[in-house]
Amino acid sequence: LENGLLRTPPMGWLAWERFRCNVNCDEDPKNCISERLFMEMADRLAQDGWRDLGYTYLNIDDCWIGGRDDNGHLVPDAKRFPNGIAFLADYAHSLGLKLGIYEDVGNFTCMGYPGTTLDKVTQDAQTFAQWKVDMLKLDGCFSTPEERAKGYPMMAAALNATGRPIAFSCSWPAYEGGLPPKVNYSLLIDTCNLWRNYDDIQDSWRSVLSILDWFVDHQDILQPVAGPGHWNDPDMLLIGNFGLSFEQARAQMALWTVLAAPLFMSTDLRTMSAQNMDILQNPLMIKINQDPLGIQGRRILKKSYIEVYMRPLAGYSYALVFFSRRTDMPYHYRTSLTQLNFTGSGLHEAQNVYTGDVISGLRTETNFTVVINPSGVVMWYLYPVRKLGSPQQ
Ligand code: DGJ
Repeated sequence: LENGLLRTPPMGWLAWERFRCNVNCDEDPKNCISERLFMEMADRLAQDGWRDLGYTYLNIDDCWIGGRDDNGHLVPDAKRFPNGIAFLADYAHSLGLKLGIYEDVGNFTCMGYPGTTLDKVTQDAQTFAQWKVDMLKLDGCFSTPEERAKGYPMMAAALNATGRPIAFSCSWPAYEGGLPPKVNYSLLIDTCNLWRNYDDIQDSWRSVLSILDWFVDHQDILQPVAGPGHWNDPDMLLIGNFGLSFEQARAQMALWTVLAAPLFMSTDLRTMSAQNMDILQNPLMIKINQDPLGIQGRRILKKSYIEVYMRPLAGYSYALVFFSRRTDMPYHYRTSLTQLNFTGSGLHEAQNVYTGDVISGLRTETNFTVVINPSGVVMWYLYPVRKLGSPQQ
């Protein structure tokens, strides 16, 4: 969507995967969907380095709604959001963050809260703008294909008409099976800043793999439709939760980055380990995710349960991810840039994104070996080196 927003994939925090629809504030006041949870996450985003690295969105998901007032205006649950959403937006803004909110184009949200039916789209867009919200995720439960076909473009227009820049995240394609002809990706590019194509992520490696497989199986369709202002969304990062090993956490981060995916953490930022923080706060990783060309990467090779992914970056550079689906032992993968279909004769250098090691003197025909752990990755930032004979710095 050409509204000037999300020229690079959005980064931030989204409540759903980790905190779900926990509305039991009496027994679980620290973790229920409430003003307190969002304020505490906002504090962490601002104080623990996240914001300054680009993780600026603080996004509410399902289960915030209390109902509608006599005039039909949405109101948050009064007990859990006693100061209202505008207050939370102000709080986020005071910390240099942005606030995202959630609704659903059907009769109800997936968890059964009042939806934004077609007759409510304009009013709700105005409410969100009045509250100074910065992003809307519009879900699709309890809606018909016809309602979605009307509702998503209608909401895009209504948000635009408010005059407030509000990024628009659509679950539309996920409810149509994610593929043409049911999904019209050119229309999505004009309607949404990002879209969920496929299933919800769950806290397991199996879920990560099933999402990855789907995105790779359909990369010929999906890769070309991503770009500045319009992104495919394979769903949230699980890093910091319960389902992934250290290697798997590194793998999700690397694979999502090479796919130019939104980086929405959904985890408890109050209790994150230093190890997981290093994965999520890796500056070179973030630079690659946020590359200005905004080209989504592709899987370019697959052999012996090893896969290679490649994403073209600005400055004739590339991100390479060597990914192992093996379950035996670290695999010594021997290859060369030629075997990875690089052409030309230039000299390249690579920086290992996780270790920082620099591999220099790479000519296209130079053989090299990377050692990839089971369900792990080796990730390279590969860049051209100035021609031999030109002055050294
Ligand atoms: C389905 C969406 O795909 C999830 O990300 C989440 O928003 C839930 N609905 C909330 O009910």
